Amino acid sequence: MGVFELLKADHEKVSGIMEKIDQTTERGLKTREELFAQMKSELDLHAQVEEQFFYPALEEAEETREITLEAYEEHNLVKQLLRELEAEPKDDEQWTAKFTVLKENIEHHVEEEEGELFKKARKVLGKERSEEIGNRIQEAKRQSKAASARS
Ligand SMILES: [Fe+2]
Ligand SMILES: [Fe+2]
Repeated sequence: MGVFELLKADHEKVSGIMEKIDQTTERGLKTREELFAQMKSELDLHAQVEEQFFYPALEEAEETREITLEAYEEHNLVKQLLRELEAEPKDDEQWTAKFTVLKENIEHHVEEEEGELFKKARKVLGKERSEEIGNRIQEAKRQSKAASARS
């Protein structure tokens, strides 16, 4: 699988979990906590592999530099919100509000990524390099999931 298909599959997975969280209420604490933990671990790993294998190649190229620097900053915002959401009580209206802001941020980021960024990245990377990066990401994710299954 190429890097674009791989990252898109992750986006879809996270979007599915977010929809489920959206349907939980302050009273459904346990479900909310489980879904949030699941979403956070998917997002942490996704951001990590993008930052390790995908973004650096795009940062180098003139055509994708600016949008990639923005993408890093969007990751930082999302990570900050995730930290707050993890620490704060999940049976609270404020948590629900913060989660909505997280979801909007992620949706915006994914839209830019799958739109402008992927479009330019296809040109900059070419087929061979896209596949090579895809393979590295797949391997890194496999190792990380194996390691967390052991612990
Ligand atoms: Fe992404
Ligand atoms: Fe991203």
